Amino acid sequence: MSVSLSGQAQASSLLQVRGLTRRFGGLTAVDHVDLDIGQGEIHGLIGPNGSGKTTCINLLSGVLLPDDGSVLLDHQELAREPTHTISASGLARTFQNIRVFGRMTVLENVLVGFNRALGYGLFKVFTLRNRSAERRLREQAMSLLSFVGLADKHATLVTSLSYGEQRLIEIARALALSPKLLLLDEPLVGMNPSEVDRVVGLLQQMRSDGLTMLLVEHKMRVVMSLCDRITVLNFGRKIASGRPEDIRSTPEVIRAYLGENHGIGKRVARR
Ligand SMILES: Nc1ncnc2c1ncn2[C@@H]1O[C@H](COP(=O)(O)OP(=O)(O)OP(=O)(O)O)[C@@H](O)[C@H]1O
Ligand SMILES: [Mg+2]
Repeated sequence: MSVSLSGQAQASSLLQVRGLTRRFGGLTAVDHVDLDIGQGEIHGLIGPNGSGKTTCINLLSGVLLPDDGSVLLDHQELAREPTHTISASGLARTFQNIRVFGRMTVLENVLVGFNRALGYGLFKVFTLRNRSAERRLREQAMSLLSFVGLADKHATLVTSLSYGEQRLIEIARALALSPKLLLLDEPLVGMNPSEVDRVVGLLQQMRSDGLTMLLVEHKMRVVMSLCDRITVLNFGRKIASGRPEDIRSTPEVIRAYLGENHGIGKRVARR
């Protein structure tokens, strides 16, 4: 049974997930999960290692097929749709393990995001016949790079960036889709404190620009300060959802994940 700490699903949910379920053999990695994300909020998805957070993101983004359940984004059913339909419907994501195109420049890595946005094949944007269309896309990619603070590195190979900077490129590439909802799977992993502060500032800016986000993250201080609402998973099940101040004092969440020190317990400190 899950604890709902701040009433019913919001009337203006952008994302409404019901009964989402995925099994791997005998393991139910995601077990009848309900999730409501309100328009314009940063919604945290937290829980111990192996509790099903990445599997949820894979199900929502179409990387995995659900065994059961429904996923409504802006009233459109997306469960079981292919990934390109889901991204065209306005759902973008980043990956827990960075995915960049190692032989491409920083700018080219962001341009790939526009291919997806325009429904092109992966590399079509590099062979556009229409020069003004190409120039426009490059300008948009450069403005996304400016947003994440990496415009001056646009011509360098993406692999020469720091790990944290490569994560910012993933975010810029996801933003090229102009998504309604962005799923972020541990965007702060491997970042130093100043990079963490930078990303937190960017996420705040993105929210004030109207973007809705689902944030999977183990850094509890960030989650608690940034998220409007939080859903907690344990062994694939939702055990609580609500506002940060309520979540951090829920006994079941403290037992399963936070520990008595609220964020500096063993499981959290591993990250
Ligand atoms: N493709 C797969 N095949 C089999 N089992 C899988 C697969 N993907 C995930 N699992 C299992 O499903 C469970 C949930 O995994 P998941 O990666 O979703 O956890 P998580 O909450 O993202 O964990 P972490 O915080 O460590 O990233 C784990 O037990 C994992 O081993
Ligand atoms: Mg994960």
